[in-house]
Amino acid sequence: MSSSVSVAIENGVAVVTIDNPPVNALSVYVRKPLYEALATLRDDPAARAIVIACAGRTFVAGADITEFGKPVEQPELRAIVALLETIAKPTVAAIHGTALGGGLELALGCHFRVADQGARLGLTEVKLGLLPGGGGTVRLPRLVGAEKALGMIVSGAPILAGEAKAAGLADAVVDGDLLAEAIRFASETADRGGAFIAVRDRNDRLAETDLAAFDAQATDLARKSRGLDAPLACAEAVHNAITLPFDEALAAERALFVKLVSGDQSRAQRHLFFAEREAAKVPGKDLQRRTIERVGIIGAGTMGGGIAMAFANGGFPVTLLETSAEALQRGMAMIEKNYAVSVSRGSLTGEAREQRLGLFKGSTDYADLADCDLIIEAVFEDMAVKKEVFGKLDAVARPGAILATNTSYLDVNEIATSTARPRDVLGMHFFSPANAMKLLEIVRAEKTAPDALATVADLARRIGKVAVVVGVCHGFVGNRMLSARGAENEFLLLEGATPGQVDKAFTDFGWPMGPCQMGDLAGLDIGWRNRKARGLTAVIADTLCEEGRFGQKTGRGWYRYESGSREPATDPEVEKLIRTKAGELGIAQREIGADEIIERTLYPLINEGAKILQEGIAARASDIDVVWVNGYGFPIGKGGPMFWAGLEGAVRIVERLEYWRQRTGRGIFEPAPVLRRFAETGSWEAVGGAL
Ligand code: COA
Repeated sequence: MSSSVSVAIENGVAVVTIDNPPVNALSVYVRKPLYEALATLRDDPAARAIVIACAGRTFVAGADITEFGKPVEQPELRAIVALLETIAKPTVAAIHGTALGGGLELALGCHFRVADQGARLGLTEVKLGLLPGGGGTVRLPRLVGAEKALGMIVSGAPILAGEAKAAGLADAVVDGDLLAEAIRFASETADRGGAFIAVRDRNDRLAETDLAAFDAQATDLARKSRGLDAPLACAEAVHNAITLPFDEALAAERALFVKLVSGDQSRAQRHLFFAEREAAKVPGKDLQRRTIERVGIIGAGTMGGGIAMAFANGGFPVTLLETSAEALQRGMAMIEKNYAVSVSRGSLTGEAREQRLGLFKGSTDYADLADCDLIIEAVFEDMAVKKEVFGKLDAVARPGAILATNTSYLDVNEIATSTARPRDVLGMHFFSPANAMKLLEIVRAEKTAPDALATVADLARRIGKVAVVVGVCHGFVGNRMLSARGAENEFLLLEGATPGQVDKAFTDFGWPMGPCQMGDLAGLDIGWRNRKARGLTAVIADTLCEEGRFGQKTGRGWYRYESGSREPATDPEVEKLIRTKAGELGIAQREIGADEIIERTLYPLINEGAKILQEGIAARASDIDVVWVNGYGFPIGKGGPMFWAGLEGAVRIVERLEYWRQRTGRGIFEPAPVLRRFAETGSWEAVGGAL
């Protein structure tokens, strides 16, 4: 028998242990021996009961994602679950860590589930653009009811063991030796005897379903699915579980799964799963990590406060530094208010809020940063100010402390020169609001030490961020590409598109919002200040700012916002302004379709990504995808700009860029050599210095 599955029988209870590091994924090397072991035990009189457990850090965390999209090797998970359901003796899943996707479906094949109190159980396939294809949509509703199952399957969010017990998914929760308790549970159940009912035959909870309420819930979910197929397929499968006999619902689930797994959306989401894990890896075996216990944050404004909250939420003590007691008080008041909102919404307990607030220490004296292991500066975006801060930090920080700047655009190499320890200096570019946004660009400056970089990459995971290591250039990966995307916006408007039409082309593509709405949300003055600093202009956006139209915060921007509302309303004044400017510039206006809007904004975005690869600012095309999906709302079902370039067809993209280059004469449309090569070979390849 393969070493990935072993069997031991003690006192009549057979323990089947799966051991397939790191997460016990159900690859074919597990499925084969698992099937054989269960088939043998079914008929083995020495086993009165069977416990399925896992070695290592977790119960089965799912199917092996690398096998999706490849020819299926037998036996499939479905066959294992079906086999389990033919076993007349009690079968028990002993769950620790996470039972996710196929892992939970395996557990649903057992009569009983005994979970460690810290375990999390969920059907997470939707996050990979799939639905549970091993019977999860048909079995879970039989235990927890259709409405609860729908919520779990469509969100993909796991639940804790306690909640699983309350919902009927877990039969016992263990605080202590899980395996011993699971064996005891199995043994006692076998002693009691009787018929053990497989989940497939439990129909009571389903019979209680209010179908009209269920369908209303499903319709609501469909409205929120933003062009993604998987959530809709999940809802359809659970609906089938309610209305069809078990075997028919199972067959229908399979058909839906097969369609999704071969589709572009799931391919895109699987690409992102691995891309996110790859992006934060810093090359270099045996790189030591520095110890980070206390974090210092300089600046308690929106950004500094958000960063401080992100660390406190991760359990780190934080020293928050401001220039005056009043500024510090204002910053702390904002943090307290944010936590109060979380408590009022029910996403944080009062106790957790107190605990987090207890981690903050305020100060106005740089000397108080001496015991910090990582210090992040989040002061005004101005080179002279940043350099002054780093000079002061150099004087007080302990040797080996990592000194980070949260700059969005400035040259981290230059900032590092204001210290005598450039090896310890790097960029940590958080996105606003920093306590909520997942992306973190970690900027590697010329002299940054690899161990400092690796330390921060690990730390990012500990505070729930998705980290991407990037090189130094104006705007790094994300904001530099954003500028390229925004460049054509003005021209599209001058040539006849309205802000509403541009934004609708984006939301129809799958973005949560278009560039005009996003500009209004972020504040148009930010881009304005930036342009001025670089001697650049934008005819319409500059005029809006000169008129004090900064976006939502002033109630007017590209749109109009009625007293405090966040809902954008078309503003005829803006449309008139655009027409007037076009007239002054002698630009004839015409109808502009959604396809043209997408071509002229997203193709240059990809082109800029190709240049970034060429310059070695990003190490992999997939890193760029991670930045855009997690920081800027690029639709996950399209996998990020560089993945989407493959779906769209790079040959076409090059052709259309050349067309627009000829028609407009603008350099932004000149295809980058790396993009041309991608069109020829179908593979992205970084040609610059690897990060
Ligand atoms: N199939 C194949 N590989 C998987 C995997 C799966 N289902 N789940 C995790 N891995 C790999 C990761 O790619 C990573 O590989 P790497 O070290 O080479 O980068 C490694 O296992 C560890 O995973 P990671 O996510 O870094 O560990 P973690 O402790 O932070 O999280 C999980 C563990 C299980 C919570 C997380 O990996 C996860 O959510 N996995 C996917 C679960 C899922 O969607 N299952 C449904 C599939 S049907």
